[in-house]
Amino acid sequence: MEITVVGTGYVGLVTGVCFAEVGYNVTCFDIDEQKISTLSTGICPIYEPGLEEMLKKNLDEGRLHFTSDSKAACTKAEFIFIAVGTPEDEDGSANLDYLEAAVADIGANLTKDAVVVIKSTVPVGTNERIGQMLQDIIPGNIHVKVVSNPEFLREGSGILDTFHADRIVIGTDDLEAGREVAQLFEPFGRPIIQTDIRSAELIKYASNAFLATKISFINEVANLCEYTGANIEDVAKGMGMDERIGSQFLKAGIGYGGSCFPKDTKALEKLTEYYNYDFKILRSVIEVNSRQKQQLFLKAKKMLGSLRGKRVAVLGLAFKPHTDDIREAPAIELITQLIEEQADISVYDPAAVGKVEELFGSRLYYADTVDLAIKGADVVFIMTEWPQITQYDLGRYPLLMREPLIFDGRNCYGLVEAELAGITYISIGRKAINVNRNLENSKTPALETELEETRIESAILHKVKLS
Ligand SMILES: NC(=O)c1ccc[n+]([C@@H]2O[C@H](COP(=O)([O-])OP(=O)(O)OC[C@H]3O[C@@H](n4cnc5c(N)ncnc54)[C@H](O)[C@@H]3O)[C@@H](O)[C@H]2O)c1
Repeated sequence: MEITVVGTGYVGLVTGVCFAEVGYNVTCFDIDEQKISTLSTGICPIYEPGLEEMLKKNLDEGRLHFTSDSKAACTKAEFIFIAVGTPEDEDGSANLDYLEAAVADIGANLTKDAVVVIKSTVPVGTNERIGQMLQDIIPGNIHVKVVSNPEFLREGSGILDTFHADRIVIGTDDLEAGREVAQLFEPFGRPIIQTDIRSAELIKYASNAFLATKISFINEVANLCEYTGANIEDVAKGMGMDERIGSQFLKAGIGYGGSCFPKDTKALEKLTEYYNYDFKILRSVIEVNSRQKQQLFLKAKKMLGSLRGKRVAVLGLAFKPHTDDIREAPAIELITQLIEEQADISVYDPAAVGKVEELFGSRLYYADTVDLAIKGADVVFIMTEWPQITQYDLGRYPLLMREPLIFDGRNCYGLVEAELAGITYISIGRKAINVNRNLENSKTPALETELEETRIESAILHKVKLS
């Protein structure tokens, strides 16, 4: 079976590599020549656990090919999967420019019948429009069927999710094409649901909107916990044990980010506007999330007043752990605010530093370890629950920071542990710890000496990087 995958981002690359892994001959096509030449040498340009190993293996075994030549990509293809980006447009709707360009490219280069499968997340009605577009471009003797196959993988576990997908959605109004695509997915052995083309498109948006709703809901409950004195961890646990509710996506935090939830909720809202339908819950979900992203910053401002000149460490930059994706990451919004405040900022992330450096350049100090990031800091913000951060020894905060003041947007630590470690700890939906403590009084002379040393060391580090 000959498969072409158009777009080698998080979705396209994982899809292509996994199809090769189950034995198909796969050609991955991208207009980004640099990316294609990197991939051709077996190097994975994105951070995705297990992907590079599988990529190398399938390249070596000759089932996986990369090209930036659309003609070569289309020649043999029986199935063409399109997984190009559909980012947020200025007005919040899905920008379909990349998709339309890809379709035009395919249409111009098809020389035989093929099934075109749209994996990109697109508004209801788009697949039908793409089908029409292709009919208008390709010669009359070539037949193309369009199938919607929305993707549900999560960054950071893309391969696992592909091989253990809860469901594979195949939407088409052409039963024969639906059967062919279903057959293609048979080696994965996952449940398949076949629907009409519009339902498939809406399943994707409705699923993401529902998950985003769960997150915004629990964040609202967390905020209420702070008023009432309840503890969100206990509340969420008690709720999640009810099977009708389920425990997943009930973790309160600093709001959802990433390349999907923010843009997909907004694109769905735009779609409802088009139909003049007022989807009230969806509007609130979006609003609650943008307010939630401000929570830590506002708490810090309330406590400290201005952050000007303060040493601030931001731990975790990616929108979630195990990925280098910083699209719509709460940390990026926070850093922008901290820069406006003229804070002196150091950052740490195990995977996303490169991407953040592209954005902020020399305005930040990029630390290789948590230790280096927090040395001499007045304030720490925790924005991503990487294991390197959740498993970090709490005792080192008072040892290394100027003042052990932590704003934790991911509830990484237990309250008792934070109290015992002597840190001032403000998290989400839980009691604030040691807020009124006089930190300077609690330091031992030994700690003072170490603190002074780290202050000097850190000042040098900051100066070198910032100058
Ligand atoms: N990232 C996720 O976790 C995820 C999950 C589910 C669904 N999706 C959806 O899948 C789609 C792809 O998302 P992504 O995160 O993989 O995007 P991405 O931005 O990581 O990758 C898109 C790729 O498409 C390439 N491209 C753009 N125009 C092209 C063209 N005309 N021809 C060939 N290649 C082209 C780009 O160079 C890039 O490599 C989006 O619609 C997204 O909403 C993403």
